[in-house]
Amino acid sequence: MTAVTSSSALEYAAYELTNYDLTAIQSATRVSQALGPRDVLVRMKTASLNYRDLLVCTGRYRKISLPRVPLSDGVGEVIEVGQAVTKVKVGMRVSPNFMTGWTGGTITPEVIQTDLGAGIDGVLRQYAVFDERSLVKIPDYLSDEEAATLPCAALTAWNGLIEEGNLKAGETVLVMGSGGVSIFAMQFALMSGAEVIATSSSDEKLKRLKKMGAAHVINYKSNPDWDKEVVKFTRGRGVDHVIEVGGSGTLEKSAVSVKVGGHISLIGVLANPNAQSNHAVHLLMKAVKLQGIFVGSVEMYERMNAALTVHKTKPVIDKVFDAHDVVEALRYMQSGAHFGKVVLKI
Ligand SMILES: NC(=O)c1ccc[n+]([C@@H]2O[C@H](COP(=O)([O-])OP(=O)(O)OC[C@H]3O[C@@H](n4cnc5c(N)ncnc54)[C@H](OP(=O)(O)O)[C@@H]3O)[C@@H](O)[C@H]2O)c1
Repeated sequence: MTAVTSSSALEYAAYELTNYDLTAIQSATRVSQALGPRDVLVRMKTASLNYRDLLVCTGRYRKISLPRVPLSDGVGEVIEVGQAVTKVKVGMRVSPNFMTGWTGGTITPEVIQTDLGAGIDGVLRQYAVFDERSLVKIPDYLSDEEAATLPCAALTAWNGLIEEGNLKAGETVLVMGSGGVSIFAMQFALMSGAEVIATSSSDEKLKRLKKMGAAHVINYKSNPDWDKEVVKFTRGRGVDHVIEVGGSGTLEKSAVSVKVGGHISLIGVLANPNAQSNHAVHLLMKAVKLQGIFVGSVEMYERMNAALTVHKTKPVIDKVFDAHDVVEALRYMQSGAHFGKVVLKI
C-alpha cells in the first residue's frame, strides 16, 4: 500500500469495483485533489459489510458508474484538516455517514446520490477525503472494528424504531433473521425497554437471540406459519413494530403479525422478490403505518451514538477479515452463515 506523499495531496490504495462481479474488485491507486477548506483527510482503518454491498457488487443495486470504490461503512483516524474545519481534530476517530450529504432534516433526491460505495466512492481504501459535515465522532468505548458496524445497519434500525417508529417502553418489536439490521434493532428495542420477538432459519442462532434477550424466538424455515405464532404470542393483538427486512417475500406475514394501528419499517429485500401477496388489504384494514426507511442522517447518527454510549451497547461482530480478502468476506456474508456483522481490517 502507498503512503501519504505530501501534505494535502496524496496517493492512496483503493479497492475498486471494476465490473458487476464479486471477483472484479481490484486494487488501484489514485491521486486525490488538495484539501478544500472544510475537507478532512482520513486514514481508513476498518470497514464492515452490508447485504447492500453484495447487491452493489453483483449489479443488483441501482445503476452505478464504474469503477467505484465499494462499501459504505468505515472508521478511520483524522490525519489532516482543511483550514476552516472546526468539527473534528487531527487524531480523532471518525466515521462518514452512509449518505455524506444527508446532515439533517428530511431525505431528498439529492442526498440519496451521495451514498458511499454507490453514488460516490466508498470506504474500502487506505485514505479518503470527506467534508467535515459528513463525519461523526466515534464513541470512546467502542473499538474501531465495533464502530465500523454502525453507519448502515445500526442507523437503519435506529431510524426505523426510534426516529420514525417512536418506540415506547413496553411495546413489542418483531425482528427477522439474525443479520446486521435485525440484531441492532433487537438491541435498540431492549435498550428502550421493549419486548422482542425474533425469527431465524437456524435453531442455533435462535438460542443466541434468546440469550441476548429475545422474549420469544421462532424458526421461520421449520415453521412457515410463523406469523400466526407471533399473533398467538401477543395474545391475538399483534406486535407494535415490525423491522421488515424480507420485503415482498415477507410483507404479507408482517401484515398479519402487526397490530391494528401498528408500524412497519420497510427496510430490506432478502426474501423472494417475486412473491405474490395479499398484504395491501390487511395493511389498509389494520390502518398500519408503513414507513420506507433509508438509513439515516448525520444528526440521527449522533443521537444514536449518544444512546449507545449511555447503555455501552456492543455491536455483535461475527468475523473479522483482512481487507485483501474482501471477496471471501462478501461470499461468507452471501452464505448467510454470519450472526451480526462481518468486519474488514484495512
Ligand atoms: N433500507 C435501508 O436503508 C437498508 C439498510 C440496511 C440494510 N437494508 C436491507 O435490509 C436487509 C438486511 O440487511 P443486512 O445487512 O442486515 O443483511 P444480513 O446481515 O446479510 O442479514 C442476512 C440474514 O437475514 C436473514 N434472512 C435471510 N432471508 C430471510 C427471510 N426470507 N426471512 C427472514 N430472514 C431472512 C438470515 O438470518 P438467519 O440466518 O438468522 O435466518 C440472514 O442470515 C437487506 O435486504 C438489505 O439490503 C436496507
